[in-house]
Amino acid sequence: MAFQERVFSGVQPTGNLHLGNYLGAIKRFVELQDRYDCLYCVVDLHAITVWQDPAELPRATREVTAAFIACGIDPTKHIIFNQSQVAEHAELAWVFNCVARLGWLNRMTQFKEKAGKDRENASVGLYAYPTLMAADILIYRATHVPVGEDQKQHLELSRDIAQKFNNDFRHAIREHGYGDGFFPLPEPLITGEATRVMSLRDGTRKMSKSEPSDYSRINLTDDADAIAQKIRKAKTDPEPLPSEEAGLKLRPEADNLVGIYAALADTTRAGVLGQFGNAQFSTFKSALVDLSVAKLGPIGAEMKRLLRDPVGIDSILAEGSARAQKLAGETMKAVKDIVGFVRS
Ligand code: TRP
Repeated sequence: MAFQERVFSGVQPTGNLHLGNYLGAIKRFVELQDRYDCLYCVVDLHAITVWQDPAELPRATREVTAAFIACGIDPTKHIIFNQSQVAEHAELAWVFNCVARLGWLNRMTQFKEKAGKDRENASVGLYAYPTLMAADILIYRATHVPVGEDQKQHLELSRDIAQKFNNDFRHAIREHGYGDGFFPLPEPLITGEATRVMSLRDGTRKMSKSEPSDYSRINLTDDADAIAQKIRKAKTDPEPLPSEEAGLKLRPEADNLVGIYAALADTTRAGVLGQFGNAQFSTFKSALVDLSVAKLGPIGAEMKRLLRDPVGIDSILAEGSARAQKLAGETMKAVKDIVGFVRS
């Protein structure tokens, strides 16, 4: 069965957005809007799987929303909304909790990492996180999902859930006129340079909001001075840049900075080395500062401008949520019929 092509993705409102969120996710969200109908969601239900201060969560939600818009997503052509305003996400997640198997969730590496040693004390929500993510995507019967490498396993689980639902309920699905399968098997879209941006202090660790040193990351709201300082202080090694990509292999910091340049300039690592091969880091870093300030400066400024009007942001979320809810409600009705829930 052919499904209408549709893109869904989500970003958690859990603190400052940084270059990793931009290059790994939001920048690609922007690129997809010319080719697909897109829904981009601030996943606040996912955020509370670990403790979020209720006094901070609204600001974080508005910041992600502002970033979506400042980076160039058009909320009139596509849908920007926050997850908790569309109750069908949680509703479908419950059905999926009854489709997914314990054994599947037990294999999820992100849960193991996030729960750490004290697994007994992790929230049930953190464990069930992937079934909610599957519901996010499938409540819109989305076919394509731009995500970073670290979310690939969750996307595979979404496919497994869709497939098991289609199979377990195949008779009801057919009876209700939905043919061979009700849910599409959503595909990850993982492309481009620097989908994984690493810490500026340690090229073997992901850039992260939770690393204590602010010098490890470039926040989307950093001003030009902060961006310049962080890049100048970024860890490197003593050698000049290689002229071939293979020369980056055992040099994680060099690889990261070249990858960031390539992603910001919409080129490849090889392309960057064509220009900067054999250059000293001081030269390359100056160029990277200029490029970063040129690309990120306007985004940060626009985010700050938008955030000065929280009421305006909230109305964009309200409108997006209402549009999303219409689509989600249709799917949920069909799911209820398929599962056998009596409804009026
Ligand atoms: N788990 C994703 C992340 O942390 C966020 C997310 C939630 C998501 N629901 C989603 C991404 C649905 C893609 C599709 O990055």
